[in-house]
Amino acid sequence: MNNFQQRVKNSTTQVTKLVFPHDTNHIGTLYGGTAMQWIDEVGFLVCTRFSRQKVVTVSIDRVDFKVPIPEGSIVELKGKVIRVGNTSMTALVQIFRENMFKGDQELAVTAEMVFVAVGGNNRPTQLSVHQTTDN
Ligand SMILES: CC(C)(COP(=O)(O)OP(=O)(O)OC[C@H]1O[C@@H](n2cnc3c(N)ncnc32)[C@H](O)[C@@H]1OP(=O)(O)O)[C@@H](O)C(=O)NCCC(=O)NCCS
Repeated sequence: MNNFQQRVKNSTTQVTKLVFPHDTNHIGTLYGGTAMQWIDEVGFLVCTRFSRQKVVTVSIDRVDFKVPIPEGSIVELKGKVIRVGNTSMTALVQIFRENMFKGDQELAVTAEMVFVAVGGNNRPTQLSVHQTTDN
């Protein structure tokens, strides 16, 4: 495994949460804004771990809410790097809902987001890891 592949592997991030009443909307399921905050946090962790540079969110391309996540669910957020550019990288973040008593997981939300590495002036700066054959 080369340095690039190792970085991708090491940046894979998994966070487990419980959906409390204060995380829900008017119908007792996970509030979309809360889900997006969790997604942004996991995407940030993934891209920071991958680059080990200062990164900011530049775009959340698309968020698909496939099934509702009821209060009391366990949720697992899983994130990984799926594209690396010059200064930007894309993270895929998925939320799986898990039944507390049965344990089965179902994909509930997916999002793709782009982060940019920035320098001291908060302007884009070259990523220190690139997808080449010699690293
Ligand atoms: C992120 C920021 C520094 C980028 O500045 P910019 O002048 O747009 O950057 P550039 O046009 O030079 O593009 C830099 C990279 O970002 C990518 N990019 C820029 N805008 C993008 C967008 N809307 N969607 C996807 N990628 C984008 C470019 O493709 C480029 O990628 P590459 O270097 O890998 O080829 C600037 O937009 C910014 O400060 N935004 C606010 C960030 C913020 O406050 N985030 C929320 C809190 S973390």
